[in-house]
Amino acid sequence: MQTQIGQTTLELVRGDITGQDVDAIVNAANQSLLGGGGVDGAIHRAAGPDLLAECRAVGGCETGDAKITGGYQLKARYVIHTVGPIYFIHLGNAPRLLGSAYRRSLEVAAAHNLTSVAFPSISTGAYGYPVRKAALVALGAVIDFLSKQPHRLTLVQFVLFDDKTLAAYEAALRELVEA
Ligand code: APR
Repeated sequence: MQTQIGQTTLELVRGDITGQDVDAIVNAANQSLLGGGGVDGAIHRAAGPDLLAECRAVGGCETGDAKITGGYQLKARYVIHTVGPIYFIHLGNAPRLLGSAYRRSLEVAAAHNLTSVAFPSISTGAYGYPVRKAALVALGAVIDFLSKQPHRLTLVQFVLFDDKTLAAYEAALRELVEA
């Protein structure tokens, strides 16, 4: 499913983000940036050990912030590491922090003049964010940034790892676009 936001194609696809041939893939990391499971583990496995070495030098990332590194053995030239909220810890702040993770990732992409970025579904795995709620926050934040902020992005993808998550994002996008 896709929609056009100005000059940018916003696309929802089912797949493994590590295979995406885009300028940057976004990693759903933790504050240490020292790797983990889920998409974090998959990205580090695909990028190789040099990614972890650079992450060590970056020195961490606050929840809702984003940091950029090289992509190493990935097809993507860069990895933008962001840290989403832990749903049952951040509770009332969770929507703001999740929106910030997407916004800061796009700010970093724009600062590096990137034209294509792929996101996973941040915080909806180990961090326990309900997928339908997360999808509305995620797509809302991305559409708001693309509509209002300066950037050179012609493609923003959400690469969803299973059918349930893809369906939740498709429903959320229909809701936002029809609104
Ligand atoms: N490609 C795309 N999406 C993926 C992939 C992949 N290769 N692997 C997992 N996912 C999906 C999950 O199915 C989920 O929908 O990414 C989404 C986010 O799940 P997590 O990876 O668990 O990320 P998150 O919920 O943000 O938790 C982050 O988990 O891996 C640790 O170090 C990480 O501590 C951090 C926490």
